[in-house]
Amino acid sequence: MPSTVFLGIGHFAPDRVVTNDELATQMATSDEWIQQRTGIVERRMVDFKNAPMGASELGTRAAQNALQNAGVSAQEIDFIIFCTLSPDRMFPGDGCLMQAKLDVPAGVPALDVRNQCSGFLYGLAIADAFIRNGTYKKVLLVGAEVHSSGLDFSDRGRDVAVIFGDAGAAAVLGATEDANRGVLSVELHADGRFADELTCLYPSSAEFPRLTAERLAEGDQFPKMNGRNVFKHASVRMPEVVQSVLATHNLNPADLKLLITHQANLRISEMVQQRLGLSPDQVFNNIQKYGNTTAASIPLALSEAVAQGRLEKGDLVCFAAFGAGFTWGAALLRW
Ligand code: ACO
Repeated sequence: MPSTVFLGIGHFAPDRVVTNDELATQMATSDEWIQQRTGIVERRMVDFKNAPMGASELGTRAAQNALQNAGVSAQEIDFIIFCTLSPDRMFPGDGCLMQAKLDVPAGVPALDVRNQCSGFLYGLAIADAFIRNGTYKKVLLVGAEVHSSGLDFSDRGRDVAVIFGDAGAAAVLGATEDANRGVLSVELHADGRFADELTCLYPSSAEFPRLTAERLAEGDQFPKMNGRNVFKHASVRMPEVVQSVLATHNLNPADLKLLITHQANLRISEMVQQRLGLSPDQVFNNIQKYGNTTAASIPLALSEAVAQGRLEKGDLVCFAAFGAGFTWGAALLRW
């Protein structure tokens, strides 16, 4: 049976850099508070005045970079998976929109995954299953988010608005017969009992009409988060699932060349590192520059890690994610 390998990786982030100081001109916050609590120094945001774009466009540009990196043409892609919580439209999904933009051949299936910060791992699990059983040969797996058009940049929304940023990142996945490379396992979890801890309620198909002036005035279209509880669960669940996926293969944290955690908060990543007994150079973080980019965060970090020469063929890599749902998971692979 073949294994799934990364043939190429790429990312795209809008040019507009938003510093903590800039946010502090819009809401009661400070560079010191944000850096101390989250590690974030700046993030990228779409420039809606001069160059408006949605997640499908960020994903498309990231995909173009990944295809170039892989030396694969859009016409060779036989399955698209697009992971986002911020799609351009209620429907159809961004996978279909991106297919048209990239000119991926008609008939190639396009799947949207709505699993928030764990989206890329859910997408990877699906791609891996299809590649291993021979259904698809070259899968384009994309994570992209435009958070900035959905954040409350007032004092009311400051706890959430300071942590998110916009970006897209993509991987071209293919098959290898090399037994020493590829995805070893993807372990996925969810517990919907915690859905209200981090959620965006509106517009809602459970209400008629889905959009009212009153709801908008209340700010119900913005995400709501119980930050402390999310933090507590994330810093327990991520080390737990990393240990679990390693144990499946009789491996230990010490065997890892690199751990890439979902970039939600630098303090969470540091706790995960400590709980696993890893050294700082075994963990890659770039949240300082991008904030939390949700489904884009793991492939964005991977793309930068690869560009910096942090991975060589055969290195053991682990990805771990935790986010709204709650959903969480880990993937283990030999680069
Ligand atoms: N600037 C200044 N003060 C603030 C800000 C801000 N931006 N936001 C909140 N505060 C205040 C609060 O009002 C509170 O004030 P009070 O003590 O007077 O009541 C104080 O700071 C502490 O607030 P907490 O919410 O307890 O702060 P905490 O230390 O928990 O940090 C944070 C908040 C950074 C959001 C943290 O809880 C966190 O990172 N949580 C996890 C986020 C996460 O992982 N999300 C999952 C992924 S996202 C996804 O899946 C879509």
